[in-house]
Amino acid sequence: MTVKKVLLTGSNGQLARALHKNFPKNHNLVALSKEDFDISNMTHVEKYLKKNKFDLIINSAAYTNVDSAEDYPRLATLVNKFGSQNLSKASSGMCPIIHISTDYVFNGRKKTPYLEDDETDPINNYGKSKLDGELEISSHNPERIIIRTSWLFSEFGNNFLDTILRISKEKNLINIVSDQYGGPTSVNDLSLAIIFIAEEIFAEKKISWGTYHFSGYPYTSWKEFAQEIVKCAYKYNLLPQLTDVRGIKTEEYITKATRPRSSMLDNSKIYNEFSIKPSNWKEELNRILKSYGN
Ligand SMILES: NC(=O)c1ccc[n+]([C@@H]2O[C@H](COP(=O)([O-])OP(=O)(O)OC[C@H]3O[C@@H](n4cnc5c(N)ncnc54)[C@H](OP(=O)(O)O)[C@@H]3O)[C@@H](O)[C@H]2O)c1
Repeated sequence: MTVKKVLLTGSNGQLARALHKNFPKNHNLVALSKEDFDISNMTHVEKYLKKNKFDLIINSAAYTNVDSAEDYPRLATLVNKFGSQNLSKASSGMCPIIHISTDYVFNGRKKTPYLEDDETDPINNYGKSKLDGELEISSHNPERIIIRTSWLFSEFGNNFLDTILRISKEKNLINIVSDQYGGPTSVNDLSLAIIFIAEEIFAEKKISWGTYHFSGYPYTSWKEFAQEIVKCAYKYNLLPQLTDVRGIKTEEYITKATRPRSSMLDNSKIYNEFSIKPSNWKEELNRILKSYGN
């Protein structure tokens, strides 16, 4: 197969780092950080993509600080909406784009897992800016795959896994919300799903462009996720004690941004279309924490 040239944005982020690690080395992956390639800078994006031609763009750049987006909604919009618009417009007619979105486009009131066609209704500024981004991607580039994911965790920095490890080293008891549900998603798994779709695009298979959900299973609560992290970290000697994880209600944990009660995403569409299935998040958690122990 011929070498394909792929642009990866937001290269210092956790998803981008996993993509960088896993991307087949027979392709030319150009991974650019915010400093090299600011997706919100329209002039720069246009100029760069006029000069440099790609076979695929993977947009993993985003403004991801959910609580800060309540204070700085314009910044979140600049990156998540207008950054997506810039990439989508500049890539249209040149190459397909794979764009990453979030469960936070939903209000979280549905009792069963969300399907791709369910009504969107974000309840915080981050979710609104990400939904705007999806709409921008869809309106300018028909050759787009939008993947909504949830509760990302990895060995690459800032995420719930890190936070729980850090605070449970310091405390014997931690309080974690037990009435919000979702699928913790391994960033490694997500990167492999993206790579699989990229290869289908390169092989010029018939692609059903559009929106797909990809999130880890089984669904759980933040509290159970934290309990599993503690149990697993203790097993690999990463904690001096089995920290007690106590469940609290959403109302008892005050944050700037309101979070959806349910972040459960239904994965059937991506499975039916591409035979892609996430692994059990507990296995991925074990893999990561075992590597920390070594
Ligand atoms: N994390 C989750 O739990 C979660 C859940 C659902 C969906 N998602 C989505 O999944 C995708 C990947 O998330 P992630 O966890 O890998 O995020 P991340 O670790 O925060 O990475 C995002 C990267 O984008 C960069 N960035 C910010 N503004 C930019 C700009 N204007 N131009 C270029 N790059 C910019 C950031 O740089 P700085 O750090 O220097 O600002 C960061 O390196 C995002 O679209 C996110 O919305 C994440």
